[in-house]
Amino acid sequence: MHMLIAYSTTEGHSAKVARFAYDTLLREGHTGTINDLDNVSRMPELAGVDGVVLVGSVHERRHSPALETFMQAQRAWLSKRPTVLLSVSLSAAFEQGIEEARDYVVETELRTGYAPNDTVLVAGAVKPGSYDYFENQVLRFAVLKDREYEVGTSDHEFTDWDALRARLLCFFEASTASRRSGE
Ligand SMILES: Cc1cc2nc3c(=O)[nH]c(=O)nc-3n(C[C@H](O)[C@H](O)[C@H](O)COP(=O)(O)O)c2cc1C
Repeated sequence: MHMLIAYSTTEGHSAKVARFAYDTLLREGHTGTINDLDNVSRMPELAGVDGVVLVGSVHERRHSPALETFMQAQRAWLSKRPTVLLSVSLSAAFEQGIEEARDYVVETELRTGYAPNDTVLVAGAVKPGSYDYFENQVLRFAVLKDREYEVGTSDHEFTDWDALRARLLCFFEASTASRRSGE
């Protein structure tokens, strides 16, 4: 299998998630390319791609314009191969936030007209050193509001890497099976 891993990040955590997906892919004996969708000078190479891992974070309830533009522009191409969206948000880190995290995905699907085959809600990270005053206020009073976490001065990752690895392995396995059955 040759996979494209395409990501968009604001504070860097989705880049780390994408790199993790890429390393997991290679460890399983597959090949792939990893692309930063925010870097417009390097549009992903689509030729020869069997499946796609899309990775992007949520800010103020939306996935980034770069990710949504790619999903919308390439929806015909994407719909012909297995795809998974790794949606990175802080809502996904809290039981009471899961429904909201799902809503972000549904809203993206409605806006882009494209629904991936599978979606993983990935708990993101808090990086206090990366925020300006406004972002800090949004994070504390809009995103984390009544959730049981106090933003301190150090970074904190909520991502469950083992659970993410298990979901990726399922996706790679299912993609390989569907490719074989199409041959
Ligand atoms: C200004 C700001 C707004 C955010 N808005 C949301 C939000 O609406 N919902 C949510 O679940 N997480 C929100 N987050 C949390 C991010 O999704 C989380 O920190 C994620 O790990 C960022 O990934 P990135 O580093 O790839 O950009 C927000 C974070 C910041 C700084």
